[in-house]
Amino acid sequence: MNKLFIYALDLLGDMMIIVNKKYKLSKNYIPNNLVKISDKFSNKEIYVIDVVKNNFEKMCSDALNYNLYIIAMSGYRSYEYQENLYNKYLKIDKPEVVDTYSAKPGHSEHQTGLAIDVCTNTKDYIEFIDTEEYKWVKDNCYKYGFIIRYPKGKENITGYKFEPWHIRYIGDKAKYIYKNNITLEEYLKK
Ligand code: DAL
Ligand code: ZN
Repeated sequence: MNKLFIYALDLLGDMMIIVNKKYKLSKNYIPNNLVKISDKFSNKEIYVIDVVKNNFEKMCSDALNYNLYIIAMSGYRSYEYQENLYNKYLKIDKPEVVDTYSAKPGHSEHQTGLAIDVCTNTKDYIEFIDTEEYKWVKDNCYKYGFIIRYPKGKENITGYKFEPWHIRYIGDKAKYIYKNNITLEEYLKK
């Protein structure tokens, strides 16, 4: 494993792990405790770390009280899966464009089992921004330990375009990150 990655992990604990354009995971890194998200809140077989599943399902089930349907469409992705995805995008866009929306293999947060891409029961992730579900997720996901990982206006810090659909489990630090309108990168630098 990358030395810097181990440093970040030791310093802050598993849930604060940072994976971005600078910090990568080794090819054989597979998180422990991967469990399947309930069919009620996912549109295919999706696995994440157990604590992430529990908090995600609690959030989705609370949202149902407001008639909001939050559905997981992507969770844990292996190194190889990300490699295929990235290579698929390279057939459509130039490398510098692909790098604004897709992580290279080893650099995707999805490999940690802590990230989920969400959509709704009627709208694909690409349209998530226009939904009531998004409005609710944006202001409430921190209560369940999640942050919007690639926010609008922070592209130069995260390295990626705004992704309203990509939420990342952090744990109780999510509240500080939300209230101060910062990214995980900014939080770890403070
Ligand atoms: N879309 C995010 C950056 C990923 O590929 O992990
Ligand atoms: Zn994602």
